[in-house]
Amino acid sequence: MTLAGRRVIVTGASSGLGAHVVRHLVGLGGEVLAVARRADRLEALARELEGAPGRVVPWRADVTVEAEVRATVAAAVDAFGGLDVLVNNAGSEVQGPIDGLPDEAFEGMLRANVTSVFRCTRAALAELRRSRGVVINLGSTVVSRPPRDRFGYVASKGAVEAMSRALALDLGRDGIRVNVIRPGIIPSELRGLSETEERAKFETGIAFGRQALSEVGDGRDIAEAVAWLAGDGGRFVTGAVIDIDGGFTLGAADPI
Ligand SMILES: NC(=O)c1ccc[n+]([C@@H]2O[C@H](COP(=O)([O-])OP(=O)(O)OC[C@H]3O[C@@H](n4cnc5c(N)ncnc54)[C@H](OP(=O)(O)O)[C@@H]3O)[C@@H](O)[C@H]2O)c1
Repeated sequence: MTLAGRRVIVTGASSGLGAHVVRHLVGLGGEVLAVARRADRLEALARELEGAPGRVVPWRADVTVEAEVRATVAAAVDAFGGLDVLVNNAGSEVQGPIDGLPDEAFEGMLRANVTSVFRCTRAALAELRRSRGVVINLGSTVVSRPPRDRFGYVASKGAVEAMSRALALDLGRDGIRVNVIRPGIIPSELRGLSETEERAKFETGIAFGRQALSEVGDGRDIAEAVAWLAGDGGRFVTGAVIDIDGGFTLGAADPI
């Protein structure tokens, strides 16, 4: 498959799944604006991908700030001449029980995970209408199978999922597709550990009783699904919620 000439914004590209998505799309020939707050990480990613079939342009922005979101879309149009794909991947997680999570932590998570999707999609709309483009939002399988003490994160991802299905209907008349990818448990920095630390935890067995497959998920698994939705293969897919989770949503694999 090829994404040659496909113009893409990936938010949350400085680590974890977002960086994997950028690597994969650029490898398939895509032109990608890689967005996050940590500019040094984005520059390193761009250096790593020099010589790849596509092109990556690093762009520092906070996706919760309206002016920065608008500047991000303008930067993509400047660099690539338009926009075909918006990947709303940026997100954060603060854990805690309902009586232990401060207002600011809860509201900050909603801003990072939900308001950012609203603002980025709204800012990109004129360009996506022009290209009859696609929006790919990162949800989570925790919406179907909530872990303890993560209710705020679960709520934010539930909102992303519901908003995406509603927007798929609203924007379908403009030829814009809106879909959700729900990763299962994929080692990354999201829970405050480095990707290496997370992977070590998984490889010592902690995840195996929790999903059908005895494999550790990888950012590349998510990137493959993003590429499919972004390309011609996904042209008839909208309003879909796609689990890439090794069977996590099936429930506990061990006998109870
Ligand atoms: N890993 C999993 O198991 C898993 C499972 C289900 C869903 N997800 C979802 O997948 C997405 C990626 O998560 P991940 O696991 O790759 O986590 P991660 O490694 O912590 O990456 C999160 C990314 O979001 C960026 N970000 C956060 N707030 C931002 C803001 N205000 N403005 C701009 N960028 C911001 C971070 O960059 P900066 O700090 O540099 O801004 C970082 O690049 C998230 O939406 C997450 O909820 C992950």
